[in-house]
Amino acid sequence: MKKRYAVCGVSMRAIFMYIQPMMENFSPYADFVAMLDIDPLRFDLCKERIPSTKDVPTYMADEFEKMLEEQKPDALIVVCMDSAHKHYIVEGLKHDLEVICEKPMTTNTKDALEIREVEKKSKGKLICTFNYRYTAAHTKLKEMILDGKIGRVTHVDLNWYIDIHHGASYFNRWNRMRENSGSLSIHKSSHHFDLVNWWINGIPQEVHAFGALNHYGPEGPFNPSKKDGRHCTGCPEFRKCAYQTRFTNRVKNRTISDDFFGPLKQDWEKIFTDYTPDKCLFDKEINIFDTYVVNVRYKSGAFLNYSANFSTPYEGYRLAINGTHGRLETTEFGGIGGSIISDFHEGGSQYIDYYPIFEGRERIHMPRTYGGHGGGDPKILEDIFIGEDPDRKYDILAKSVDGLRAISIGDAVYNSIVNGGVQDLSSFME
Ligand SMILES: NC(=O)c1ccc[n+]([C@@H]2O[C@H](COP(=O)([O-])OP(=O)(O)OC[C@H]3O[C@@H](n4cnc5c(N)ncnc54)[C@H](O)[C@@H]3O)[C@@H](O)[C@H]2O)c1
Repeated sequence: MKKRYAVCGVSMRAIFMYIQPMMENFSPYADFVAMLDIDPLRFDLCKERIPSTKDVPTYMADEFEKMLEEQKPDALIVVCMDSAHKHYIVEGLKHDLEVICEKPMTTNTKDALEIREVEKKSKGKLICTFNYRYTAAHTKLKEMILDGKIGRVTHVDLNWYIDIHHGASYFNRWNRMRENSGSLSIHKSSHHFDLVNWWINGIPQEVHAFGALNHYGPEGPFNPSKKDGRHCTGCPEFRKCAYQTRFTNRVKNRTISDDFFGPLKQDWEKIFTDYTPDKCLFDKEINIFDTYVVNVRYKSGAFLNYSANFSTPYEGYRLAINGTHGRLETTEFGGIGGSIISDFHEGGSQYIDYYPIFEGRERIHMPRTYGGHGGGDPKILEDIFIGEDPDRKYDILAKSVDGLRAISIGDAVYNSIVNGGVQDLSSFME
C-alpha cells in the first residue's frame, strides 16, 4: 500500500533528496501529499523545479494541525533547519505518525532525550537518516568487524577534512550559529560519530575536546578588513577576499554558495525571503568552531580519537580501526583539491586495507557507486520508501537512540571546548 508523506521544511535537501525521488523513482510506494515551511517562496521554488508537484497542497508552519487534518499523512519527512526538527518530530510522534528526520535529529542532548521519551509513548517511530552508513566502504567495514576480522575493537582514529570550499559554505549560511545547527560538532560531525558508534556498536560514556575558530570569523587570516554584515553578492571587497577570488574570475562576483546551490541559484530574493546564504565568512556573529580535536571513551572500553577541520586544501578522511586481532584502514579524498592526491586511490576508487595482527595485508577495492554521499543517498531512500532489506544481516537504518548517541557526543564536544573538562554522558546514555 502507498504511504502518504508530508514534508516539513522545503529545503534544498528536501527538494532533491526526497521530493524529486518521491515524484519519480518511488511513486509506486509514496504519495507526496503536503509541504510545509515558514517561507512561501520555498513552495514556488519546489513547484518550479519539480513541475509535477504543482498541485501538492502547501501549508505555513502555523498550519501544521490543519495539514494533518486535511491531508492525513502516514509519515512526516522533517528536513528543515536543524533547530526546528524537534518540534515536528515531537508533534508527529504525538499523532502516532512515522517520522523520518534528516540529521541531526536535533541540536542538543536535552531535546534528544525529550524526543526519546515522547517516542516511547507513541505508536509512531522515528527514523534518523544517517545516509553515510550506506556508502559501500562503510557497510564493508561494518561487515568485516561483525565477522570478527579484527577481534574486539579497542581504538578508532578518524580525521575528517572539509575543504576550503565546502567548509566555507557552512559559514555563509544559517549553519554558522550554534542556536540554528547546534554547531558543526553536531550538524556535521554527528554523521561521523554515528559511523563510529555503528561500526563498533559503541555507547559513548565520556568526551573531551579542544576547539577554535581559526579561519572564519573576524580574526580569520583572509579577512580583507574588519567590517561586519557584508554579503558575498555585490561585496565591494570581493576582489581582496581570497575565499572568493580563489574560486572565481575578475568578471563575475561568484559566491561559494553559488556552487553549493548549483543550478538553483537565480536571485536569492526568489529563493528565500529575509535570508541569503551568502553571509560574510568573517562576521562577528559566528559562534561555532572550525577546528576541533576530540577523545571519546565507550562503554566497551574502546577509544575514539577524532578531529575535524573545515578549511583544508582537499576534502576527505583518514580512518583506522584497531582491534585485538587486526587493523582496518581506509582513506577517502575528493573535493576541489581531490585531484592533488588522487594517487591515494589508485585510479579513483576507495579501498580498505586489512591487516590481520601477524599476517601482512589484504587490500579490498570498493566498486564505484553513484549518487550523493558516496552512493549512500539512493540506497537509504530504498530502505525508507520500500522498507528495510529483509536479507540484510545487521541493522542499518538508524533510530532515535542512534540520533541521541551521535548528538550527545557533538554537544559534549561543544561544551568541553567552551567550559573545559571531560563531559560525562554515562548517567543518561541509553
Ligand atoms: N544527510 C545529509 O547528508 C544532509 C545533507 C544536507 C542537508 N541535510 C540536512 O537537511 C536539512 C536542510 O538543510 P539545507 O541545507 O538543505 O537547508 P536550506 O537552507 O536549503 O533550507 C532550510 C529550510 O528550512 C526552512 N525552515 C526554517 N525554519 C523552519 C520552521 N520553523 N519550520 C519549517 N521550515 C523551516 C527554511 O525556510 C528553508 O526552506 C538540515 O537539517 C540539514 O542538516 C542533511
